[in-house]
Amino acid sequence: MEQKLPSIPGPIGVFDSGYGGLTILSKIREALPEYDYIYLGDNARTPYGARSFEIVYEFTLQAVTKLFEMGCHLVILACNTASAKALRSIQINDLPHLDLPHRVLGVIRPTVECIGSITRSRHIGILATSGTIKSESYPMEIHKLFPDIEVNGEACPLWVPLVENNEAQGDGTDYFIRKYIDELLAKDREIDTVILGCTHYPLLLPKIQKYMPAGITTVTQGELVASSLKDYLHRHPEMDARCTKGGSCTYCTTEAEEKFIESASTFLDEEVTVERVSLEP
Ligand code: DGL
Repeated sequence: MEQKLPSIPGPIGVFDSGYGGLTILSKIREALPEYDYIYLGDNARTPYGARSFEIVYEFTLQAVTKLFEMGCHLVILACNTASAKALRSIQINDLPHLDLPHRVLGVIRPTVECIGSITRSRHIGILATSGTIKSESYPMEIHKLFPDIEVNGEACPLWVPLVENNEAQGDGTDYFIRKYIDELLAKDREIDTVILGCTHYPLLLPKIQKYMPAGITTVTQGELVASSLKDYLHRHPEMDARCTKGGSCTYCTTEAEEKFIESASTFLDEEVTVERVSLEP
């Protein structure tokens, strides 16, 4: 990681492998509209879900470094796969070598904190990428706070590619939505709360709600992450002072700009300008 980074205040960085982080960014901007943001989607290399720990760490570190070089002091990994596989390593191995105290926060902890007050049966389910499920990050984080909760997870390897290929509303998508929900619920009939542990999944919410049995609460992450960030900035005035407040948002992608604009317009209510960036050294 570069040692000489800009020391003047800058935007808050929001990173995802692709479009999924936009679901987090929109809730963050609703809760904290006064700040400036840079969104970075690694659309050229998405999905991360089935990639190894080493590769997800390498790609995420490249993205975080880029956002730091662009002036961000605080970066949110708006991606569960990156939060599960890279966040800890970056916090332990990379951030301590920087001159300034830059920070990287993830999405798993803020999601897990609320779960104890939602479930009544104390049986919860996680729908996420293969990487997030295999990492066991959700059961580990949940059991640190709520050792009594039973956790079952189901990997949904086709959901991110369906979103990234603009098939979120497609007819064929229903089959795979139903399949993974049914497989999860078959593992534990007492599940009363299901966490959508991938930031792409809210883009599939209408279809997920169609197949989720009544009585089961579906938890999405955007508002939880936004309120946790608000709280973090309140508790860390020194970091708050290093985040600029102009209400702007810049979008960056590793893919072609036109592709991002075309796809992002289905997820965002505003016209966006996009800059293509390269993450490879
Ligand atoms: N939005 C990412 C997540 O939350 C998607 C991962 C992927 O690229 O497969 O896990």
